[in-house]
Amino acid sequence: MEKEDISGVNIHPIAIRLLSWYSEYKRDLPWRNNNDSYQIWISEVILQQTRIDQGIGYYLRFLERFPNVASLASASEEEVLKVWQGLGYYSRARNLHQAARQIITHHNGILPSSYHGLISLKGVGAYTAAAVASIAFGLPHAVLDGNVFRVLTRLFAIETAIDSPIGRKMISEIAQSLLPEEDPGSYNQAIMDFGALICTPLQPRCNACVLQESCMAYAKGDVTIYPIKERKTKISNRYFHYFHILQGNHTYLQKRNQPGIWRNLYEFPMIETMQPADFMQLKQTDAFKELFPEVTTLSFEPKLVLRHQLTHQHIHTRFYQVEIPERVTFTPPSALFVTQSEELHNYPVSRLMHKYLETI
Ligand code: ADE
Ligand code: SF4
Repeated sequence: MEKEDISGVNIHPIAIRLLSWYSEYKRDLPWRNNNDSYQIWISEVILQQTRIDQGIGYYLRFLERFPNVASLASASEEEVLKVWQGLGYYSRARNLHQAARQIITHHNGILPSSYHGLISLKGVGAYTAAAVASIAFGLPHAVLDGNVFRVLTRLFAIETAIDSPIGRKMISEIAQSLLPEEDPGSYNQAIMDFGALICTPLQPRCNACVLQESCMAYAKGDVTIYPIKERKTKISNRYFHYFHILQGNHTYLQKRNQPGIWRNLYEFPMIETMQPADFMQLKQTDAFKELFPEVTTLSFEPKLVLRHQLTHQHIHTRFYQVEIPERVTFTPPSALFVTQSEELHNYPVSRLMHKYLETI
């Protein structure tokens, strides 16, 4: 397609349509009201793995507590995790915190204003660097996220798998060639909003679509086969058994130390098994005997059974409540003894623990 010439700037007809659609239908989002680069960075990190409606509340609370780089850098990791609590993918919060410290030590406390400066920060990858560079600093970097992959593979009926290096390269080149020089930040947000509101994964609104005439997938008749992927992501199953121990008005928490999900968050003492296990099977494990040397109860029903879905893992969880009389000395390894009513709420916990605590 030829580029049209508008006020001396070359701009692709698809970009023109997307921008005019955006000016009318863009979502009213708190970080769109100014161009404070710190606020834009925080919003983009939250939105990487969180839906916008859920992300907004966290965004506002995060900014209230940490209004600038300096306040984020001087907080403790635990305080940052506490504000992030419930949002999931906690490495995002840890990376934000470490990046804020990097900015203080290496960039005079000011968020870098170049793509290379941004991508050198902890947790900032190609997507976030392009988003912040374009939205906050007007730099010509096209974002690639799930929305962009979907919209572009449909518009150009791209059959090459998007999870292959060739597919990614192809889409990245198209994305870059559509990007207008003027206001690339609005264009990037336009295509993402368009993917989220019109060209949606399951039932795209082709009849209301301003790009219908140029859409090759629409012309061919089957739009939802795009984007095409080479492989389905392999999902692993994990089985977590948590023990909410009640001893008077106290309970026990452990800090999760091992690398992987939920590192440094607090949780009830737990056992992980390789296979699904009911209480009888659980009792046979060494881990159980170590945790509860004294408990002789024959059977227990879980208080709550939850399935928690992360990108590459399904976590099957059972929460048991175990009452232990106050006079019994009970010392689960490296556990904290905390009051149920007050102290429990002061510890950052995973989204899964949070769900359980909400239901009891
Ligand atoms: N998804 C992630 N960041 C976004 C933004 N700035 N606008 C629209 N959708 C987004
Ligand atoms: Fe997406 Fe349908 Fe529009 Fe094509 S016509 S861009 S598939 S919404």
